[in-house]
Amino acid sequence: MLKHVVLLALLDALLRKDAPFFVLDTHAGRGRYLLHGKQAGRTGEASTGIFQLTGARQPPPVIARYLRAVAADNPVDALVAYPGSPLLAAQAMRAQDRLAACELQPEEAEALKALFDHDPRVAVHARDGYDAVRALLPPRVDGVRYARGLVLVDPPYEAQDEEYPRVAKAVREALERWPQATCAIWYPVKQRRSLQPFFRKLEAIPARSVLLAELLVHPDDSPLRLNGSGMAILNPPWKLDEAIAPALPFLQRTLGQAGASTRLEWLKRDEG
Ligand SMILES: C[S@@+](CC[C@H](N)C(=O)[O-])C[C@H]1O[C@@H](n2cnc3c(N)ncnc32)[C@H](O)[C@@H]1O
Repeated sequence: MLKHVVLLALLDALLRKDAPFFVLDTHAGRGRYLLHGKQAGRTGEASTGIFQLTGARQPPPVIARYLRAVAADNPVDALVAYPGSPLLAAQAMRAQDRLAACELQPEEAEALKALFDHDPRVAVHARDGYDAVRALLPPRVDGVRYARGLVLVDPPYEAQDEEYPRVAKAVREALERWPQATCAIWYPVKQRRSLQPFFRKLEAIPARSVLLAELLVHPDDSPLRLNGSGMAILNPPWKLDEAIAPALPFLQRTLGQAGASTRLEWLKRDEG
């Protein structure tokens, strides 16, 4: 949820200008998840959380915006499906904007292709999302170059510690090829101190600034469980920190257990 709240805030920043933008979703998933039935087990995390949030009172504007986006993919007064990142992006996009969504797992890629079958703004690539960074950036679609945009990197971290260097390398390559882009990386938090080498790699990437937003629903004292997650945003848009700041304590209150915490801090900041 934190990931999608931040994603929508990033899309809203891009929507403030008329100029077209391009989104590369390197690990897109199937695009839409049923909250009941077969897929529900795999999205248990989303379903428990989203039902808690929809019942919460007076959500801050970024959360209300997120809940509207989820509701837009559902019938009135019912919550049966959860939109994934490519669907949230496509819902927000205008006619002039483009999305490239990569998914390696054939069954997931097929579902994603079917979802966007009739949307000419969206290209689904059944391929490795890291390779796509080199193949698709800087973005050029039908002869149009896109100066502005976003790269979302949201891998499953099944490869555990091997994934972090791959993510950092891909983001470095993305910004070398497309320096104006914003890059957003989702990462799991078990023990925060074990993330230090990853953060050092991100800090060394030539980006203007890097913002970290984290929600830990448990204390980060056990390396064996997922205690929370974070988003690292390289080249965040102006005032993104102010836009998402109220979401963090709200999510902590609504979803957190004893010992829950949040963090919003600059790993690197352009003071110029
Ligand atoms: C965490 S899920 C993505 C969720 C999606 N971004 C969202 O927010 O709705 C990660 C996805 O990456 C896919 N995947 C794993 N390795 C990949 C790779 N190297 N390139 C592209 N997709 C990959 C998995 O099959 C899985 O569907």
